[in-house]
Amino acid sequence: MKQFEYLKILKMSKRTLEEYLNWGESEIPKVASDKELMTKKQSVIKKDIQEKFSKNILGYKEKLEVLKKKIDSCVDCPLGKSRLNAVIGVGCPNADLMFVGEGPGFDEDHKGEPFVGKAGQLLTKIIEAMGFTRETVYIANIVKCHPMIDPTNPEKRSNDRPPTPIEIETCRHYLDEQIKIIKPKIIVTLGTSSTKGLLYTEESISEIRGVVKEYNGIKLMPTYHPAALLRNPSLKKSVWSDMKKVMHYLSTDKI
Ligand code: URA
Repeated sequence: MKQFEYLKILKMSKRTLEEYLNWGESEIPKVASDKELMTKKQSVIKKDIQEKFSKNILGYKEKLEVLKKKIDSCVDCPLGKSRLNAVIGVGCPNADLMFVGEGPGFDEDHKGEPFVGKAGQLLTKIIEAMGFTRETVYIANIVKCHPMIDPTNPEKRSNDRPPTPIEIETCRHYLDEQIKIIKPKIIVTLGTSSTKGLLYTEESISEIRGVVKEYNGIKLMPTYHPAALLRNPSLKKSVWSDMKKVMHYLSTDKI
C-alpha cells in the first residue's frame, strides 16, 4: 500500500474515533456488519421472498407499494389536504430494525422521504454508527403528513409542530399495517409523539427511554428524538446507550 493510502486510513480512523467520543465511547466499538446482523429470520424471509416472486404472490415490497398508494390519496384528516407529499417510509421492506419518528417536517414534505433534514442527517449517523445503513433498516413516522402551524403555507420554514393525539389516532393504522408487513424484531421510537402514540403512556420520554417495552408482541425501545440531540448534545450518550441495547438484542436475541 502507498504511504498516502495509509495516511488516508489513519485520518479516517481518527475521524471515526472522534465521532464515537461524541457518543461517550472511549474507543471504536466493534459493530457487527450487516452480514453478521442478518439473522436467521431475515435469511428465511429472503428465501420466502424469492419463492413468492417465483409464484407471483405479493412480496413485502409490493405490499408496501399498495399501502403507499392508499396513503398517497388519504385525506382522512386535515393534514392530508395541506401536505405537499405523503411521507410513507424508506428502507428495507423486511428490516429487523425499524425507527419511528414524529412526522414529516419541511424538508421531508418537499422530498417525500422521512428524516432528510438536519435531524435526519443525525439519525443517519446513529444508524451508521450501529453498523447499518438507511437501506438496511426501515424509517417511518407515526403520522405520514406534515403537521404545520400554518397549514396554508407549506413553503414556510419553521412551520412545523408535533401531531395532535387525534391526528395520531387517525393515522396510526397505516403504521400498524407497515409494521405487520415489515415484521421488525425491534422498533425504536424517537421522541415523545411516537413513544406516547404507540405505548399510550403518560410517562415522559426522559423517564421511559432506555427501557425495553413491547408493542403488539414486538420489542420497542423508546429514545430521544435526534432533534432533541441537536438542541442538547449531552443527550447523545443516553441515545447511544439505548442503541447499544438494541444492537445487543439484534445480535443475541437477548434483552
Ligand atoms: N422529524 C421526524 O420526526 N420525522 C421526520 O421525518 C423528520 C423529522
